[in-house]
Amino acid sequence: MVDRNSQVAQLSPEQKRTLLKQLLEEKAAGGKAGLQMAKAAGGNEQGQQDCGELPANIPEEYYRIAGFPDYLELSKQAELFAQLQIANPYFRVNEAIINNKTSIDGREYISYSSYNYLGFSGDERVTQAANEAAKRYGTSVSASRGATGEKPIHGELEAELASLIGVEDCVVYVGGHSANVSTLGCLLRPRDLVVCDALSHNSIIQGCILSGARRILFPHNNWEALEAILKQNRRNYERTLIVVEGVYSMDGDIARLPQFVDLKKRYKALLMVDEAHSMGILGRSGRGIGEYFGLDPRDVDVWMGTLSKTFASCGGYIAGSKELVQLLKYSAGGFVYSVGITPANAGAALAVARLLRSETGRVARLQNNARFFLEFAQANGLDTGLSKDSAVVPVIIRDSLKSIKLANALFQHGINVHPIFYPVVADGEARLRFFITSDHTEDQIRFTIETMKELRNKLVP
Ligand SMILES: Cc1ncc(COP(=O)(O)O)c(C=O)c1O
Repeated sequence: MVDRNSQVAQLSPEQKRTLLKQLLEEKAAGGKAGLQMAKAAGGNEQGQQDCGELPANIPEEYYRIAGFPDYLELSKQAELFAQLQIANPYFRVNEAIINNKTSIDGREYISYSSYNYLGFSGDERVTQAANEAAKRYGTSVSASRGATGEKPIHGELEAELASLIGVEDCVVYVGGHSANVSTLGCLLRPRDLVVCDALSHNSIIQGCILSGARRILFPHNNWEALEAILKQNRRNYERTLIVVEGVYSMDGDIARLPQFVDLKKRYKALLMVDEAHSMGILGRSGRGIGEYFGLDPRDVDVWMGTLSKTFASCGGYIAGSKELVQLLKYSAGGFVYSVGITPANAGAALAVARLLRSETGRVARLQNNARFFLEFAQANGLDTGLSKDSAVVPVIIRDSLKSIKLANALFQHGINVHPIFYPVVADGEARLRFFITSDHTEDQIRFTIETMKELRNKLVP
């Protein structure tokens, strides 16, 4: 194998910086996009290949993980980070509960990196509910729910969530990501069409791929473009599902839901809304995008949400009609063939769902903080992209390396925020993503924005 260490070590600092930029932005030959396409093509043929006669020259990169081009690219990137003395902003160990603050290596930071939006993770009543559930039912339900894993607390949680959302029923999965993947994989088949927003979360795309349905992406939040797609394609497929997100997790803007509801009705399609970043955040009492727009919750066929954000737990839910929930409970792989959510996680989420009804002050504080952050950032000349009325505020930097350096410089000043770059967002759209919480103070927000403005102006790309 080529000795990559010596190759990289021989480069000048300028060449290292250029190479790192290329790797971050995937412009180097054989970038990830290419690899993913190759994988997708190969993936379809898995299991159909004739393995009788093995050719003698199967390259190492096909059977040694250490030789995988994607692994080599990753390790080269890590090496360049080390050689250029750029700290890796990922996998920092947070030593305590994260709300508006966190503790890393014994130092306190203002945190914008958790989705503990309403500060319920760490709330004593929620912790107590989790402890009580674990004491009563154990630390695992030890089976899938359909077998022997069903506990009273599962049904209580599902009923509470359904009532909060205003629909008939709900099913809780062990993860938010798996809720999307399994639900989409279950509801759609190869003769169906799924039309998703171009900025859809990975879990939505993975679910669409699993289903085998024809997938078309429409330009972000552009209902006119969606209508053109439906006009042209609807009649060629059996089921058609439109998928949008309440709040887009990288941009902080809100789906134009009334227009999507109108389209789904006119084109006899189904509509799914992922409320990972809108439940608990949008609407006067935090009931999400439906409340924000004053819509009838029954106008959406599939409401999806996670328990890991507002609900201070771990898991995912799908809510809607009783028929939808029954179908998923008996047919969705990630529910039928997976263990039930742990009692502690169910207990914590149930406590939050109940507290959400009585503690709307938290929602109001979160909305005020998010508005203040957005307006103060804009007033200081920072580019906040599309963000509006949500608790996700990006500060667009564009250049990947610069976004990492700025995040690291902020870290030195006691502010923890993460950089996001390609392929998570489009090339040239690198950003710092701020998650605002109800616990942030005006002083923290002012300090953050003033520090960021000063540091940004000093940074060399
Ligand atoms: C839009 C969206 N959907 C689904 C998920 C998956 O949720 P979880 O992290 O709870 O698995 C996320 C995670 O951040 C998300 O942002």
